[in-house]
Amino acid sequence: MSKNLVHKVPKNFHDAHITPQKYKEMYQRSIDDPNGFWADMATEFLDWNQTWNRVVDYNFSKGQAQWFSGAELNVSYNCIDRHLPKRAKQTALIWESDNPEESMEISYADLKTEVCKLANTLKSRGVKKGDRVCIYLPMIPQAAYAMLACARIGAVHSVVFGGFSPEALKDRILDADCRLVITADESTRGGKNVPLKANVDKALAHCPDVHTCLVVKCTHNDIPWVAGRDICYRDSVSVMSADCPPESMAAEDPLFILYTSGSTGKPKGVLHTTAGYLLQAAMTFKYTFDYREGEVYWCTADVGWVTGHTYIVYGPLCNGATSLMFEGVPTYPDAGRCWDIVDKHKVNIFYTAPTAIRALQAQGDEFVSRSDRSSLRLLGTVGEPINPEAWEWYHRVVGDARCPIVDTWWQTETGTHMITALPGATDLKPGSASFPFFGVQLALLNEDGSEVQGAGSGYLVVKSSWPSQIRTIYGDHQRLIDTYFSTYEGYYFTGDGATRDADGYYWITGRVDDVLNVSGHRMGTAEVESALVLHPKIAEAAVVGFPHDIKGQGIYCYVTLMDNAEVDGNLRAELIALCSREIGPIAKPDVIQWAPGLPKTRSGKIMRRILRKIAESDMDSLGDITTLADPTVVDTLIKDRISMMA
Ligand code: WT7
Repeated sequence: MSKNLVHKVPKNFHDAHITPQKYKEMYQRSIDDPNGFWADMATEFLDWNQTWNRVVDYNFSKGQAQWFSGAELNVSYNCIDRHLPKRAKQTALIWESDNPEESMEISYADLKTEVCKLANTLKSRGVKKGDRVCIYLPMIPQAAYAMLACARIGAVHSVVFGGFSPEALKDRILDADCRLVITADESTRGGKNVPLKANVDKALAHCPDVHTCLVVKCTHNDIPWVAGRDICYRDSVSVMSADCPPESMAAEDPLFILYTSGSTGKPKGVLHTTAGYLLQAAMTFKYTFDYREGEVYWCTADVGWVTGHTYIVYGPLCNGATSLMFEGVPTYPDAGRCWDIVDKHKVNIFYTAPTAIRALQAQGDEFVSRSDRSSLRLLGTVGEPINPEAWEWYHRVVGDARCPIVDTWWQTETGTHMITALPGATDLKPGSASFPFFGVQLALLNEDGSEVQGAGSGYLVVKSSWPSQIRTIYGDHQRLIDTYFSTYEGYYFTGDGATRDADGYYWITGRVDDVLNVSGHRMGTAEVESALVLHPKIAEAAVVGFPHDIKGQGIYCYVTLMDNAEVDGNLRAELIALCSREIGPIAKPDVIQWAPGLPKTRSGKIMRRILRKIAESDMDSLGDITTLADPTVVDTLIKDRISMMA
């Protein structure tokens, strides 16, 4: 793979923050002298109320990591107050509405006022340091205010993506024991309204401990109102003081919980803490995007995902940058919307997901070429492997062949970039996330746990702690150990497979566990299966991913009916609706195949490997099926699969 076309560092990046020489030196030092390296970075990037006693202590077998113990700081102070002497009037957030006619600029001074007022509202409703607050909001500035207001008073936010169902929202509120929810009447995306408050009402019917629901009025349509519990956001903050002193937090105090899917069970609450997370967020933002004073940066992710947390809010604001937040979708009013926004706000750095690139590529070049885009300097991608065709289109058509593309590999659990090109330091190979970030020590493991030497493929693991590492799974530390630190003793197991080529570039090949990546949204096959079997006619279900042109992976469901049940005209639609209701519209199955039986081992384990091959129509490489309890089920599945395609 090393003979892949290489895109050299362009001239205008020769004066980047990180040059090839600097990458080598800094990376080497970060490994040889982590204490000295991270202490220097911590001093350079953050303001502290009190310094640390030790830089790092960790023990992977216990799933423990402590960074900067003894130190104190406040995240909202670092993202807002400390910038005010220089940047009070500078735009912190640009908000672009779903409606192309509407946008807003929020200065750092405005941001301070909004965050303090909201923080005082939270306090007035009894929220204290350590309490959990649920945020279920559209892509509006209040989402950033809410996260920062929590950080200001030491409350722990749990942002739930606005596309999740009431059922999924309820589970997350209960798991984190949130007592206050911040939401909006409705969100608007692509000209359509989504009833967020109605979803919250359904969820809260099962959450007796929630005493307050703060409601931002966006569309002003009529919504149900529970007196005493529901509070109008604007009415409340308007009477609050614009002064709220930041709480001095310990470096390892929790900052947020964010739920993500695993291969088994319910989604887990990934917990990130204060100092290490913020430090690596700030550093990766500055270096990966080579951010320069005064530039406009736009990440298209939703704040409901970790990308929105780290690269819309914390990373950019900690650097005093201008971060654009977009409420809508890339295809409304038409497929040129992103490039219209780039021109309107003179965006310099644009960060999005491969699925969005493929969707826009499919609409044709005219939507791109009608715009100017001369402000663009750098492009980025995240969320799934990017296929070289999409990479080349992004580079040639969107970036006019002048903008480097940083392909950033990381996870909710890693908090921040772990493998990424640095635009002034890395010659790019399309489809490779390239090299580890400072302080990140990677290995590829063979099945038996030994390390692959040199070029080769294996399970991607991390060998030592990094500052923004997951600290625990909320309420279930054992699950953290079991999921990440037990598969291979002494390593953090990512769940991904990867290849390292002869030049040392890493190529992520995708999940090796039962986790799907559908349009960059992570989903456990078990979650979809649990939703399907709720239907009274369904006895059993097995879900696998299959290659999908736009989504990357699609959801393929094998469904076994109860003995006495029959497929009627509605069943397929009912199952799709069920997944949407239980999880959210992102979990709608793409294909449902009726399966009289599922391939199982004699001990009853479903052989998903075989199901994946059948879903991909790759019947010739099913591998060994002799260990199946009943190998004939495979013939039936193949026959039905072939007739479905006919
Ligand atoms: C999984 C993590 C990190 C924020 C968005 C997703 C896949 C992520 C890349 C990339 C190949 C990638 C991995 C990873 N992934 N970025 N640049 N190249 N694969 O966060 O929901 O926690 O998902 O997304 O499979 O494990 P997440």
